[in-house]
Amino acid sequence: MEAPIYDFLRDYAARDVLRLHMPGHKGCGALGCESLDLTEIPGADSLYEASGIIAKSEENAAALFGCPTFYSCEGASLALRAMVYLALRQAWSAGRRPVIAAARNVHKSFVYTAALLDAEILWIGGEGESHLSCHLTPEAVARALDAAPDMPAALYLTSPDYLGHMADVAALAEVCHRRDVLVLVDCAHGAYLKFLRPSLHPMDLGADLSCASAHKTLPVLTGGAYLHVAARHPALVREAKAAMALFGSTSPSYLILASLDLANQTLAGAFPGQLEAAAGTAAALRARLAQAGFRPYGDEPMKLTLRPKALGYTGTALCEALARQDILCEFADEDFLVMMLAPDTDYVRLEQALLSLPRRAAISGGPPPLPLPPRRLSLRRALFAPRETVAVERAVGRVLADVQVSCPPAVPIVVLGEEITPQAAAAFSYYGVTSVAVCRTE
Ligand SMILES: Cc1ncc(COP(=O)(O)O)c(C=O)c1O
Repeated sequence: MEAPIYDFLRDYAARDVLRLHMPGHKGCGALGCESLDLTEIPGADSLYEASGIIAKSEENAAALFGCPTFYSCEGASLALRAMVYLALRQAWSAGRRPVIAAARNVHKSFVYTAALLDAEILWIGGEGESHLSCHLTPEAVARALDAAPDMPAALYLTSPDYLGHMADVAALAEVCHRRDVLVLVDCAHGAYLKFLRPSLHPMDLGADLSCASAHKTLPVLTGGAYLHVAARHPALVREAKAAMALFGSTSPSYLILASLDLANQTLAGAFPGQLEAAAGTAAALRARLAQAGFRPYGDEPMKLTLRPKALGYTGTALCEALARQDILCEFADEDFLVMMLAPDTDYVRLEQALLSLPRRAAISGGPPPLPLPPRRLSLRRALFAPRETVAVERAVGRVLADVQVSCPPAVPIVVLGEEITPQAAAAFSYYGVTSVAVCRTE
């Protein structure tokens, strides 16, 4: 597979060109990659009006993913905004209300997007051991959709979620499509799922739109991401670029574009075989760790999430113990430790480090239950309301003005516009949130 963007950048860098164009570093700098960092000069194409090398590279990505695919240089966050906008636009033009049904474990960028676009979210409850994970059943989704005063335009799923749980996209899509509801999947953590055999990618399981951070699980620079649109929606495919342009910078990074471009070669070459082998190794490791009492969570092949309290470690303590051996994990909280695996992970080192840790007295307890708090303001009104920051103990009864989460995992505990109930305050305290932004009540 060709790499037309990278080839163009490399050829340009090799020429003795007097650069009288952006960027200001003129191709030189301490990083060493500046010569490849270009702007829209003749021949370099233009991301949001692509018809040359970028269009060709995106066609290569589309061939790999089996559906129209568009590049983002601003993460899945940008593709996610475009995806939500496209679904809402379709709803607006069909005279439907801008309602999106969603499992609660969304990334904060979804909440911000809904707030900025003045959409309503119909939260659908599901089992899960933490606010980071939500197991939606087709029955629960069918019930929620049928009971909704206005049929939502779309169901929004986060799959895989931060802890590695994967939604049953195929079954949920069937329920939704019977009701003319689009399925949008935030697959930020799962770009690699396409390259398993069989593919576990949401676009192969019935999703209509999906975004994925190429940079999280594929060999791509940070910021590289995809928007995927099902080919059976030609209008959405046609509008995808404009939707991305609505939210994106007019100066997309050519370094990231080149990285996405080169990744196509890797994905068309050795990567699937290496991934397949690594997924087998990871599954065997997960089974051995389960036997050793680490209580793995989730079913995502390349994410290893452990619940180590029975062995006497909080997730955070286990993370710190590994860090002391120079093993740095993706995320930890009181209950979970999340590790992101890759084909070249040193599985032996990881297993030895985990199994050699001394066992301690079991720790009990888990996240406090958090019933859906009552909504007092629309997302948009809460986002734009005057606000103040107060200590969590003083916030009960107030209305949250901003998502109050660190990144990672950036999954809101309470959503803006919702009342902070005593249970919500307890959840904030459990996760170490000491102060929150609330709407001011003059
Ligand atoms: C579930 C989820 N969705 C979306 C995003 C945003 O992705 P990006 O950082 O590529 O913009 C993240 C980032 O961590 C995420 O975890």
